[in-house]
Amino acid sequence: MQVLPYNEIHMAGVKEIFTSIFDDSETQYVDFQPTPFSQVLVDSGIVKGFILIRNSTYVNFLHEIAYLGVSEECRNQGYATKLINTVKELIPMYDSLWLRCCGDSLAIPLYEKNGFRNIKFVSYGNESGALTFFWSS
Ligand SMILES: CC(C)(COP(=O)(O)OP(=O)(O)OC[C@H]1O[C@@H](n2cnc3c(N)ncnc32)[C@H](O)[C@@H]1OP(=O)(O)O)[C@@H](O)C(=O)NCCC(=O)NCCS
Repeated sequence: MQVLPYNEIHMAGVKEIFTSIFDDSETQYVDFQPTPFSQVLVDSGIVKGFILIRNSTYVNFLHEIAYLGVSEECRNQGYATKLINTVKELIPMYDSLWLRCCGDSLAIPLYEKNGFRNIKFVSYGNESGALTFFWSS
């Protein structure tokens, strides 16, 4: 299994597993161009995971983790952590990473273990709300 910089040859593979991991409401995926910090997890040429980074639109937090996903059969082997760490090593010193996720996301402990801090909670009434996580070197 390799972590490689995302480029156009991975696009079809990412789309394929993307639709098996996220539901149809996440169609905004097609609306942005991932930045060169984006990475893919590849096994024998087949995409098994991705971390897609976009330029931030949130105050001065420079890079947003737009999507992080690992195919089901590869989970709990540290691959998401590896994808996150690769991005952390590539972004310039003192740049920051952020992401937003649902308050009931099973991925919350993953971000906490990887040094992200929850800096904001927005309540959606009786739903679980949205959390903003932040990391900087
Ligand atoms: C979240 C996700 C990328 C984690 O990938 P992974 O390669 O299994 O992650 P790692 O092996 O590096 O770390 C495992 C940690 O992920 C978390 N995790 C475990 N199962 C999970 C699940 N079903 N969904 C989300 N997170 C999970 C746990 O904190 C786990 O740590 P633990 O083993 O100490 O309990 C993967 O489960 C996934 O693609 N989930 C669906 C998409 C998603 O939820 N993306 C994040 C949106 S905010």
